[in-house]
Amino acid sequence: MAKITVDKSLFCLPWTQTLLGTHLNGKANFMALDWTTRVNYQPALLGICVNRSHASNEAIRENGQFSVNIPTVDMVAVTDYCGIVSGSTVDKSGLFDVFYGQLKAAPLITACPLNIECQLFQTVDLPTNTLFIGEIVNIYSEERYLHNGKPDVKKVRPFLLTMPDNRFWAVGEQVGNAWRDGVAYQKKMNQ
Ligand SMILES: Cc1cc2nc3c(=O)[nH]c(=O)nc-3n(C[C@H](O)[C@H](O)[C@H](O)COP(=O)(O)O)c2cc1C
Repeated sequence: MAKITVDKSLFCLPWTQTLLGTHLNGKANFMALDWTTRVNYQPALLGICVNRSHASNEAIRENGQFSVNIPTVDMVAVTDYCGIVSGSTVDKSGLFDVFYGQLKAAPLITACPLNIECQLFQTVDLPTNTLFIGEIVNIYSEERYLHNGKPDVKKVRPFLLTMPDNRFWAVGEQVGNAWRDGVAYQKKMNQ
């Protein structure tokens, strides 16, 4: 089958949808955030990419702290709303019930099954965006979202974003086991 080129705005397929929490002028602010990834093993570092024009960018520079919260499928509309309006013109502080962990400027969303609290570790300025690398201070959850002490995706019920078609998706069926299925394949290859 011949390969053809597709829209370059296909960044990654798919992405876990998150909500970035910051403090803007002393109040909680939230924005929809998809460009996230773990960037270091030890210490645990999380990279997030935030456009330079967003109020959240200014808020992280000011306070050096942020949170990354994983919303559930029940929170699609409010999450999208946080990606449509800016904290520079709309007060988003009352949208969620929040709690705080160790950091005073990293508001954590109670309704989100997973809350990642980060202290700014490094800032990388890029042409239109900033890559903020945060050291994970704590991750919070509730017993009801865990299986054997670990977050269970079936209980967390996160959702995903695909771009450039801009659609949200639920997570589907489990199709395998990492670091195990390859072992069986390796054995077959070695026969
Ligand atoms: C689904 C969705 C995902 C988004 N992901 C990102 C992202 O990863 N990085 C980014 O800089 N902006 C992203 N945005 C845009 C910001 O969330 C949006 O501009 C927001 O209004 C900024 O809010 P603020 O000005 O209060 O920081 C996304 C928007 C939507 C709707």
